[in-house]
Amino acid sequence: MANTSSYKAVQGTRDILPEDAPAWDFVERIVRETCERYGYQRIETPIFEETGVYARGVGEGTDIVEKEMYTFKDRGGTSLTLEPEVTAGVVRAYLEHGMHTLPQPVKLYTLRTPLFRYERPQKGRYREHHQFDCEALGEADPALDAEMIALLWEIYQRLGARDIVIQINSIGDRNCRPAYVQRLVDYYTPLKEDLCDDCKVRLVKNPLRLLDCKEERDQPKIAAAPKMADCLCEPCAEHFAAVRRHLDALGLPYTINPLLVRGLDYYTRTVFELAPEQGGRRQSAIGGGGRYDGLAELLGGRPTPGIGFGSGMERAIELLREQGVKLPEPAKPQVFIAALGAEAKIAAAVLAHDLRAGDLRVQMAFGERSLKAQMKAANNSGARWAVIIGSGELESGRFQVRDLAAPADAPEDEKQRAVARADVVAWLLAQCQP
Ligand code: HAM
Repeated sequence: MANTSSYKAVQGTRDILPEDAPAWDFVERIVRETCERYGYQRIETPIFEETGVYARGVGEGTDIVEKEMYTFKDRGGTSLTLEPEVTAGVVRAYLEHGMHTLPQPVKLYTLRTPLFRYERPQKGRYREHHQFDCEALGEADPALDAEMIALLWEIYQRLGARDIVIQINSIGDRNCRPAYVQRLVDYYTPLKEDLCDDCKVRLVKNPLRLLDCKEERDQPKIAAAPKMADCLCEPCAEHFAAVRRHLDALGLPYTINPLLVRGLDYYTRTVFELAPEQGGRRQSAIGGGGRYDGLAELLGGRPTPGIGFGSGMERAIELLREQGVKLPEPAKPQVFIAALGAEAKIAAAVLAHDLRAGDLRVQMAFGERSLKAQMKAANNSGARWAVIIGSGELESGRFQVRDLAAPADAPEDEKQRAVARADVVAWLLAQCQP
């Protein structure tokens, strides 16, 4: 009978297996180090919140709220939602903990946050995914927008990614956007019959998202649609110009995409995305974000400007692998101890204990396996050294130590030697010095 369970991981979820874990740790380390350099501090919020945090924060008309949230009533009858994105929860925490009394901006990051969206699973799109996320609250300065974009860019540079492009846009604020949205509706209404089914709904519910349609037949309509950039009010236009001046001064390679709109309703002014480009074609985003100056108010707080981004960790790792970036692998043991017989196994356990106390990575054989099987396990483990303990070694007080990395044609006395039991720890520690 095959040794499998009748259960499988839920569709759209994935296990992070031991061979993948070091790559995740690597991404986390780079994110942590880079964020700290930019003055960010770590925060982690619960993975569920009252549903209103997202329904109000992310917006009723968005795909996330309308179709993708994992919402349930707990046993007390409260409607809860598994976190579909980080920002609303972080803003809720900022307000709840009175962080407006701290020096502003308050700069926060999260790592490996599990997020849940009931999307159609495909490569790079999961029902549980993880993000690292940065948020800076309490400051509207365009310099902060540029710094935020620079931070996302730098993280990917430090991860070793190549051929990625930054796109930016300004989608205005509550003063200028309504007039733009009306212009968009006026432009699209006569074209309504010719729109894809999704766009027919967007025209009524969330006209800005008309610009985000991927259907081939709607592309010419998008290209000819009025652009937000032509409708920005003066403060928004000035803000956007200042963001660009900062980005230019920092030498960041960005392009303005006048059609860039984001899938969450809380954005105002600057929005941006980072995506790999292949053969001139932009792939799906590895990170995205923007300013959300109205979000704190939506959650019942005082007006508090904010800006941030989220970046998918699965997508980051997939991209690095596709680009051939060498990612760390699981650490191999330095020493493998093979033992034959009950007494030898006790000696092996004590030796492993002593070597580990000296900071070496050590494995020993378990069970009643032949020496041949144990040596095979030693070789498979990737260890450099094998120690062999049998009744002969116990009697002579000298353990056999074998160099598993020695060339096959090396003389046998170079491959393997006897080391006095009392000296084995010191001898191996000396060999394994970095
Ligand atoms: P978002 O664009 O929805 O923005 O997600 C950010 C990133 O998360 C995406 O660029 C993508 O890399 C990854 N991502 C999103 N959904 C999935 C999925 N189903 N499977 C795998 N990866 C995914 C936000 O979530 C905003 N909260 C970002 C933000 C922070 N804006 C301001 N602050």
